[in-house]
Amino acid sequence: MSGPDTQTGTLWGVGVGPGDPELLTLKALGAIRACPVYAHFAKSGRPGNARGIAEPHLPENARELRLEYPFTIEVPLDDPRYPEEMAKFYDASAEHVAAELDAGNSVAVLCEGDPFLYGSYMYLHDRLAQRYETRVVPGVSGMSGCWTAANTPITHGDDVLTVLPGTLPESEMSSRIERTDAAVIMKVGRNLPKIASALSKAGRHQDATIVERGTMEGETVTRLSDWEEGRGAPYFSIVLVPGRKGIR
Ligand SMILES: C[S@@+](CC[C@H](N)C(=O)[O-])C[C@H]1O[C@@H](n2cnc3c(N)ncnc32)[C@H](O)[C@@H]1O
Repeated sequence: MSGPDTQTGTLWGVGVGPGDPELLTLKALGAIRACPVYAHFAKSGRPGNARGIAEPHLPENARELRLEYPFTIEVPLDDPRYPEEMAKFYDASAEHVAAELDAGNSVAVLCEGDPFLYGSYMYLHDRLAQRYETRVVPGVSGMSGCWTAANTPITHGDDVLTVLPGTLPESEMSSRIERTDAAVIMKVGRNLPKIASALSKAGRHQDATIVERGTMEGETVTRLSDWEEGRGAPYFSIVLVPGRKGIR
């Protein structure tokens, strides 16, 4: 799309893939190299996941715009302050990016996986895409990296795939798992015990595999039934339930 002013910079949402820097596309590389500024979201005190993935490709003379979350786990997701504070944070982040675009600088917003799949980039896109020329580069998604790491075809034939956030209430999660052939459960972390219980209730626990840090350093692939009781799962983990149809 075209923005109202051709003097302004272009907003780029750049998917950097699931972790392995070689899974960043040529198009993503071109976008990163073409922008004088790269932006990324990061938790306090952490270098930022998307930045870490793109690190080998970042031009030396590019400027970094670090957008630091106001909190990590201090405010629970169900606290009414959470959406309010996050909206304020995304408003402010969008204005930092807009200032660069107004100055004529194109900005590559680095996003882990694919920007339009549960990516924080979307909150900038929602606020800026109508105001500025905007391009989005799709990325290899985390789930794709994970089912490949697990060497597990996820859907055969007419299998239905359901993608679920691990934040869903257990009863909703299990009823959705009951009604699907294949499932990908994202945002695992501290939701793992609830996910394991929902899978058991849906009769699919034995079919499930958990992938930690798929395609990244420290990747592990474990059948959920072999998961050590009480062991925590990291932020970057996904539970996969392959389809039921079998090979033709
Ligand atoms: C905020 S979402 C971002 C998703 C991302 N935009 C994508 O396309 O995959 C973060 C969640 O994605 C999943 N995830 C993304 N990449 C992953 C990876 N390489 N290994 C394991 N889980 C991953 C995890 O469940 C994590 O909690």
